[in-house]
Amino acid sequence: GPATVLSALPAPVPFKDVVVGDGDDADASVLEEYAGAAATWVPGIIAIRRGFAPRRGDVVLASPPKCGTTWLKALAFATMARGAHPPAGGPGHPLLRASPHDCVPFMERLFAAGLGSKVMDALPSPRLMATHMHHSILPASIADNPDCKIVYICRNPKDMLVSMWHFSRRIQPDLAFSDLLEAACEGSCLSGPIWDHVLGYWNASNACPERVLFLRYEEMLRDPVGNVVKLSLFLGRPFSPAEEEAGVAMDVVRLCSFQKLKDLEVNRVGSGSSLLGGVRDGAFVNSSYFRRGEAGDWANHMTPEMARRLDAAMEERLRGSGFSF
Ligand code: A3P
Repeated sequence: GPATVLSALPAPVPFKDVVVGDGDDADASVLEEYAGAAATWVPGIIAIRRGFAPRRGDVVLASPPKCGTTWLKALAFATMARGAHPPAGGPGHPLLRASPHDCVPFMERLFAAGLGSKVMDALPSPRLMATHMHHSILPASIADNPDCKIVYICRNPKDMLVSMWHFSRRIQPDLAFSDLLEAACEGSCLSGPIWDHVLGYWNASNACPERVLFLRYEEMLRDPVGNVVKLSLFLGRPFSPAEEEAGVAMDVVRLCSFQKLKDLEVNRVGSGSSLLGGVRDGAFVNSSYFRRGEAGDWANHMTPEMARRLDAAMEERLRGSGFSF
């Protein structure tokens, strides 16, 4: 069967397992630093540029915040791990006990916490890692490395902004949506100008499609199986005819679906892994990464005038690029 065919392929390991262990005696205190490093992206980026040692087969998941990072982490992990962990194979799957953020680390936070080399060296290949960095500030060891693949996901900026507003209000309850909108139109919102973020990876993907895969959240919602097949091809792990027959891509999609992940205990109550949300008081618990998981919620938060303003700001900066939302 497909599992036999694939079991020879090494699977990624949840990074939390290599740091704190996965048994009852897991020691989450090691990750305190990681959790506290949420607000220190710049030192993290500097440390990555100085100290990241790439390995053949590394896969970097890149995205602006609130564009489907959690989903992409789950899908990429499940796709890569399907030899050791069949996605329909019962209770033992790592994604059933560990949040996607426990499986795939954020590079900025890891390196800001001084855990970069320690954790990344301990992770067996294939290694999955995530970043919110713009393409232009990726270290050459990632951007120019033919042995390192990048999967990018972006999303309609209106939905991204609504998602970001809900997320941010957990720690900044008085944040006005209109202020966030202003910032986005000016290019000063969290993680920098959206158009720069997207265009950097768009251009890189056009220049090197075998090294940078460009995905869109709305496309993934429309055709999740087709996009998982695309992802598996890109990662060099295409579904075999036997797997196609068995519907394994569909199993991956089901395992990683919004409702399935949202309802899992680990993603509902957070507990130790809420540390990885980045705020010690638990504001960014695991459940905060699962809100609605739909396209078009912006219409419930933005007036037509607000929508026009953001669309126009984006269109102006994207004109002539060949890319549009
Ligand atoms: P909403 O706030 O619009 O619901 P990120 O993971 O980059 O932080 O993005 C979070 C957004 O992705 C949230 O959007 C969240 O609900 C959505 N999301 C999380 N998991 C998902 C999944 N498995 N499928 C689809 N969307 C998901």
